[in-house]
Amino acid sequence: MRENLLVGLDIGTTKICVLIAEFKENEGLEIMGLGKVPSLGVKKGVIVDIPQTARMVKEAIKRAEFDAGLRIKEAWVSIAGEHIQSQDNRGFLKINREDGIIRVRDLERVLEDASRVAMPKGREIIHKLPQEFVVDGQDQINEPLGMRGAHLEARVHLVTAASGYCQNMEMGLQMGGCQLAGMVLQSLASGMATLLPEEEDLGVTIVDIGGGTTDVAIFLREGLRFTEVLAVGGNHITNDVAVGLHITRENAEILKINQGTALTDGIGEDEEIEVERVAGRGKTKVKKKTLARIIELRVEEIFELVDIALKKSGLRGLITSGVVLSGGSSLLNGLKEKTEKQLNLPVRIGYPRIKSTSRLNSPVYATVVGLVLYALKQKREASGQNTLGMRIKGWFREFF
Ligand SMILES: Nc1ncnc2c1ncn2[C@@H]1O[C@H](COP(=O)(O)OP(=O)(O)OP(=O)(O)O)[C@@H](O)[C@H]1O
Ligand SMILES: [Mg+2]
Repeated sequence: MRENLLVGLDIGTTKICVLIAEFKENEGLEIMGLGKVPSLGVKKGVIVDIPQTARMVKEAIKRAEFDAGLRIKEAWVSIAGEHIQSQDNRGFLKINREDGIIRVRDLERVLEDASRVAMPKGREIIHKLPQEFVVDGQDQINEPLGMRGAHLEARVHLVTAASGYCQNMEMGLQMGGCQLAGMVLQSLASGMATLLPEEEDLGVTIVDIGGGTTDVAIFLREGLRFTEVLAVGGNHITNDVAVGLHITRENAEILKINQGTALTDGIGEDEEIEVERVAGRGKTKVKKKTLARIIELRVEEIFELVDIALKKSGLRGLITSGVVLSGGSSLLNGLKEKTEKQLNLPVRIGYPRIKSTSRLNSPVYATVVGLVLYALKQKREASGQNTLGMRIKGWFREFF
């Protein structure tokens, strides 16, 4: 595998997607190849059938490799599901040296201390995200390196996952012919790909609504502050349409995408659409408003859960920049307006912030693009080109 290759593998409930990029020192990131196949063996964001998922992972890799004209060995993989949990923690360190200057080693040690939590058996930490440092009582410090102080405190956000699940994912990947470079929380990846630095600074919520999960994360003062994974997504909307109108899931999916909307406002009582009922029961007409109402009810339920999560975070009042929606379901007609009304916050749809190729210009690709950005961030930190990586901030965006 070439030295500067960065590979993202997004294992979603509905699609598996591989993105190969190359980092060139003076030119930035170049998109090399993309492979996308339907997902199998994944439910609510979690792999439930390893061989089936592995088969599709292999196929997605094959397509991306063919597209790029090269082979890959390892990939950064998205992780989601209800087993994900998060918590805040603090670490402390006394700087005893004469000059009192804070060095890289001090940051490593204080972050180590902040990551020391009593972990129940069967759980592991997947992200240790520094939020801010405190030097001699002065808080909100992003970059304490080189400062003088006697007491250093680190505040971190820890994301944990079920170890068994992580092992299953690694196995699935290896069976698919690829090594695991690391795991990245889906909402963190989607946020990295879509959020603007000023939004991350002022306070913003990313809500990635895929097929089987809705991933919520709050970014504030350039750091990730809160995460939550809800086991509900676009598949539930499709299912409601199928059950409510007595049509197949396949037809419900097409109907949702082409005629569906999350807003009943403005639809006339006499507007009708033709649908094909199940098991040869023939065609029938339904009111467009009925379809919209079915969708609207589920969307309302999803955003009630999102609102509960935001309140639980204690940060709802600080989300000055509002909400960014990503994931395939963010393409649902009327969703932006519906979300604005329900949450009473400004909303925009999050397209990946890359200019290199129009192929990736969809909120569906937010996660996989974010995985590549995360891979680049890790690479630069490992090579010492970036310091400890306090900032998720927009430093990497200069590479596009
Ligand atoms: N134009 C559209 N309008 C409405 N819904 C859409 C549209 N395009 C895609 N979707 C929905 O988006 C969902 C798939 O989104 P996405 O690809 O982000 O999911 P995923 O990553 O596979 O799943 P997850 O992240 O939940 O595990 C499906 O439920 C699909 O119906
Ligand atoms: Mg997804």
